[in-house]
Amino acid sequence: KILNVILSGGVGSRLWPLSRKSQPKQYLPLFENKTLFQKTVNRNLEFCDEIIIVGNCENYLLSRKDLDNSGIREYKEIIEACPRNTAAAIAFAAFSVGPSDILFVTPSDHLIENGEMYKNSVERSIQLAKEGFIVTFGLKPTKPETGFGYIEADGEEVKSFREKPNLTTAEGFLKSGNFYWNSGMFCFQASVFLEELKNFEPDVYLASKNCFESIENRKLDFDLSMKIPSISVDYAVMERTKKIKVVPSKFEWSDMGSFESIYDHFLNQGHNVDLYGNMVIGTSIHSEFLGLKNTLLIYTDDAILILKKENAQDVKKVFERLELEN
Ligand code: GDD
Ligand code: MG
Repeated sequence: KILNVILSGGVGSRLWPLSRKSQPKQYLPLFENKTLFQKTVNRNLEFCDEIIIVGNCENYLLSRKDLDNSGIREYKEIIEACPRNTAAAIAFAAFSVGPSDILFVTPSDHLIENGEMYKNSVERSIQLAKEGFIVTFGLKPTKPETGFGYIEADGEEVKSFREKPNLTTAEGFLKSGNFYWNSGMFCFQASVFLEELKNFEPDVYLASKNCFESIENRKLDFDLSMKIPSISVDYAVMERTKKIKVVPSKFEWSDMGSFESIYDHFLNQGHNVDLYGNMVIGTSIHSEFLGLKNTLLIYTDDAILILKKENAQDVKKVFERLELEN
């Protein structure tokens, strides 16, 4: 069986104030009135026999609403008590299926176009997963982005996987030409993944297993969840496994992770900017920018954010500070 595991636990802290804890970015109907979550589900239906949503207690109702609106009635849910990062989230899904089932793991907050190319890549990844590999998808990098993982490759062979390098390192990767961006999607057999997780992060493996075994009515226990070390799958498994492969891919992909990618996307879609590249999102109130370049004004009913495009990654800090204050 092939299952699409949809990770929907992130809060989208870098898109505050558009994205909130109560309304994370994957549920914002910003894309022709569809949400990224809906687009993800629809895109993957054709490859998969089943869907597993791994979300959390604060957003599973939003997932249900989106699924309902898309006319999808059949799906499995794993509802986390609190976010424990992607290694654990994927482990839960792997524990919930048969050992030889294929998991096609996808984030819920990416924009992907060019269906034909996507199809080719996904089909190839499923083939490699059946052969026992842990498969990543490599996209051609266009800038030294530090928020991504990089895959050093020769064809489908992976020389190294480097999660979130610093800027100098990322610039070197870009220059060398042998590196792809990691798309954040993965494909593997459940047992292969769990075996590797057990090898490299036995504590994460055991604590996730314990936690999953006590699942009740689709919901995980809070105290057992808190015992799981929080680490992303990229650091836990991808940087270390020898079973890794990459499918070099050509579909159009955007991680709508920060205002920089939102800005680029809206610009491509013909959204207005002034002569100096300043952009307003969320309001049609007349706005003027003086002495500013590449600045975004984000307007919501109860909060306004003004930032330079280059500072897109720092929005997370604001979000975290506000979280602490509340
Ligand atoms: N269920 C669940 N629980 N989902 C989670 C959790 C969690 O605790 N934490 C994150 N997620 C979901 C997010 O909602 C997102 O859909 C996906 O898992 C990836 O998490 P991010 O936090 O967005 O990761 P990232 O963007 O920093 O990095 C990953 O994606 C990049 C591409 O967008 C890495 O895989 C990078 O290597 C990759 O380049
Ligand atoms: Mg992301």
